[in-house]
Amino acid sequence: MKPQQKFPDDFLWGASTASHQVEGGTVNQWTAWELANAAELARTAEKRLGHLAVWPDVKAQAEDPENYVSGDGVDHYNRYEEDFDLLKKLQFNSFRFGMEWSRIEPAEGQWNAEAVQHYRDYIAALKKRGIEPILNIWHWTMPTWFTDKGAFEKPENLVYFDRFVQKIADEYGDDIKYILTLNEPNVYTSFSYLNGEWPPQQKSPLLFFKVYRNLAKAHRRAYVILKASIPNSQVGIAMQLGNIQAKRPHNIIDSAATKIMRYAWNWWFLNRVRKSQDFIGVNYYFTDYYRNNYRQNPKVPLQDLGWYMEPDGLYPLLLRTWVRYKKPLMVTENGVADANDEYREWWLEQSMLAMERALSEGVDVRGYQHWSLLDNFEWKYGWWPKFGLIAVDREHDMKRTARSSAIWFARYLRDMREEPAEVLKAKMPDAGSTVKQSAIQTPKPKHLLSAAHRIRQIRKSTSKKVM
Ligand code: BGC
Repeated sequence: MKPQQKFPDDFLWGASTASHQVEGGTVNQWTAWELANAAELARTAEKRLGHLAVWPDVKAQAEDPENYVSGDGVDHYNRYEEDFDLLKKLQFNSFRFGMEWSRIEPAEGQWNAEAVQHYRDYIAALKKRGIEPILNIWHWTMPTWFTDKGAFEKPENLVYFDRFVQKIADEYGDDIKYILTLNEPNVYTSFSYLNGEWPPQQKSPLLFFKVYRNLAKAHRRAYVILKASIPNSQVGIAMQLGNIQAKRPHNIIDSAATKIMRYAWNWWFLNRVRKSQDFIGVNYYFTDYYRNNYRQNPKVPLQDLGWYMEPDGLYPLLLRTWVRYKKPLMVTENGVADANDEYREWWLEQSMLAMERALSEGVDVRGYQHWSLLDNFEWKYGWWPKFGLIAVDREHDMKRTARSSAIWFARYLRDMREEPAEVLKAKMPDAGSTVKQSAIQTPKPKHLLSAAHRIRQIRKSTSKKVM
C-alpha cells in the first residue's frame, strides 16, 4: 500500500532521546540515586515486575543490580555522529534531544567549556545532515548542587534554572529554532513527590503542588528569556497527555471521574502556561478507561511494561488538545517497550493514521518524534525495556541494529515522499542479524490489523524472548 501524502512537506519526522537515558557518563541526582538503590531494586524486582508476561525473559537482567545503573548509557555522547547517520538513513528530518545541565554547569555558576562546545558540535552535526534540532532543556535530571538546594521545591531556586536557560539561549540561540523547556512535569512531580518512587522519593501532596506550581513558573520565565533572546524561536513544553475515557460513557460517575482526571493530569498544567507556548508537545503513550473512580483498561494488548496499547487514542487526544488550546501541536514522544518488535510497526501505522485523521479535521499537527531512536535507560526499570527503533547491544561494543519496524517506517516515509526504492535500499542502515532481508526488500502492505491478527500477536507475545 502506498501511503498517500496527507502530511505537509515540512512536517517534522524524527525520534526523541533524553541526555541521561542515552549519553552515558552523566553525574546528576539520578546517577547518585541509582548507585544508592540498585541493589535494593534488583532484590525487589520480582515483587514489582513478576506479574509481567515478559518476566521469565527479563528476570535475570531485572535481578541484576547492574540493570539499574545508567553507567555508560549507550555511549551516545561519543557516538552521536554515527547515530545521526542512522537518523538520516531512517528518513528523518528532525531530532529531539536533551542537554545535560549537570555537564554544562557541574558546579554552581561554573560553566564547563568542553561540554558547551560538545553540544555546539552536536547541533552542527545535525544541521550538516539537514536534520532540524529540537532541543528539550529539562528532562528530570539536575546537577546535585541544585537538588541539594531543594531543586524546584523552592521558588527562590528558579533563578538557577533561569540562568541555565539564558546560557543555552546565548550559546545556541543562532542554531536552534524549536525548544521544549520541560519534559512531562506531571510525570516527574507524581513519581518524585506523590508516590515516592523516584528521587527524592517524597510522598507529600504539599510538596507535589509546590513543585508543580514552580515548574509552571519556571516554564513561563524560560519562555520570556527564550523569546527575548531568540525572537524566531518556537517554544513549547512536552506534556504527557493521556487519552482518558469513561468506561461506560453514559454513566454519570465514570464521566465525572474522566473529567476530573483529564483536568488534573492533562489540563491543569497546560492551563497555567497557555499564554507562554508557541506549540504544545504531546507525549502520548496511554489510553485509560475509568469505571467509577478506578482505571479499568482492557487486558490486551499489553506492551512489555504491561501498559495497555491503544495507539489510535492519539486521534481523540490531538483533537481535544487542539479544540481546547488552538495551538500547533507536535507529537514529541510516542512509542512502545517491545523487545521482540512485535507491535511497533502496528503502533507506528496506527499513529500515522491517527495523525492523518487529526490533520484532515483541521488540527494543526507539525511533527512526530518517536520514542525512542535508541534503546535507552528506562529510569526505575533500568535497561531491560526496549523502546528503540534502533536496538543497542550494550554487551557487544554498543552495536546499533535497526529493528524491522524502523525499516518499515523508513520505507513508509520514503514512499510518502516518493523516492525510488533503489535509493532507499542503498540508504538503509545495516540491518544486522536481527532484521530479515525480506523485511527490507519486499514491501509488506499493511492495513489495519484485523482482530484475529491482533489476537495471534498477543498469543505469540506470551512466549517472547528478550534480545
Ligand atoms: C519519558 C521518557 C521515558 C518514556 C517511556 C516518557 O514519559 O519522557 O523519559 O523513557 O516515557 O517510559
